[in-house]
Amino acid sequence: MTGFARQPDRTVWEFRSPDHPVDPLFVNRWSPRAFEAKAMPEGDLYTVLEAARWAPSAYNIQPWRFIYAMRDDAHWNVFLGLLDPFNASWAKNASALVFLVSDTLTPAHGASPAQPSRTHSFDAGAAWAQLALQATTMGYQAHAMAGIHFDEIRQRLAVPGNYRVEIAIAIGRQTDPRDLPPALQEREMPSSRLPLEEIAFSERFARDPDNADSVPLDDSAQGDQ
Ligand SMILES: Cc1cc2nc3c(=O)[nH]c(=O)nc-3n(C[C@H](O)[C@H](O)[C@H](O)COP(=O)(O)O)c2cc1C
Repeated sequence: MTGFARQPDRTVWEFRSPDHPVDPLFVNRWSPRAFEAKAMPEGDLYTVLEAARWAPSAYNIQPWRFIYAMRDDAHWNVFLGLLDPFNASWAKNASALVFLVSDTLTPAHGASPAQPSRTHSFDAGAAWAQLALQATTMGYQAHAMAGIHFDEIRQRLAVPGNYRVEIAIAIGRQTDPRDLPPALQEREMPSSRLPLEEIAFSERFARDPDNADSVPLDDSAQGDQ
C-alpha cells in the first residue's frame, strides 16, 4: 500500500487487510480488552478529546459531552462500578474512562424554542470515531462499551434529563492478553469486516432475497426514519 504517511501496524494487519487502498490508521484502530494498567498523562486524554471536539454535527450544535476519570482519580472506582461486570472485568486496567452523553434537544434559537434533535446520537458517534482514531495515532486504543448502567450513570454523574447516555469508552495502551481470562484471550484479536460490495450499492439498495432483514418498509412507515 503506498501514498499514505502512516504505516500498517503489523500485529493488526496479520488479521486485517483492506480490499481497497485506505489510510492504515483506519485498519490499525481496533478494540482490545488487554490494557497496560498504567496512568496516562491527562494532556494525552485532552488531545484525544480535542479530536472528538472537532467532529462535524448538524447545525454545528456539538451535542456531545464527555465525563471522564483518570485511573489515579479518587472517582475511578465509581466509574468502574457504572460498567456492567463483564466490561468492568477488563476495563479496570484502562488508563482513562470516558462517558459520552449527547443533548437530545436542539437549543432554542431566536424565536424557535428548543426541539427534539434528530441527529444527536449520530453526531456523538462521529465524535466517538474521531476520538478513537486520535487515540490510535498516539499509540493508545479506545474501546467503546454499551454494556453500562444507564440509569445509575445519569444519577451518579448528574447527567441532565435532556441528555442521552450513549456509551462508555476505555482508553489505554494495548498489552499482552495473557492476563485476561482464557475465554477473553481467545477473542483478543482484530475483527474483519463485511466486503464492500455487501454494504455499498450503486443506484439502489441491493436487496439480498435470502436475507429476511432486508425487507423494505412499506411506504407508510418510511416517513420519519
Ligand atoms: C457503540 C458500541 C458499543 C460497544 N459495546 C461494547 C461492550 O459493551 N463491550 C465490549 O467488550 N465491546 C463493545 N464494543 C466493541 C465492539 O464489539 C467492536 O467495536 C466491534 O466488534 C468491532 O471491532 P473493532 O472495534 O476491534 O474493530 C462496542 C462498540 C461500539 C461502537
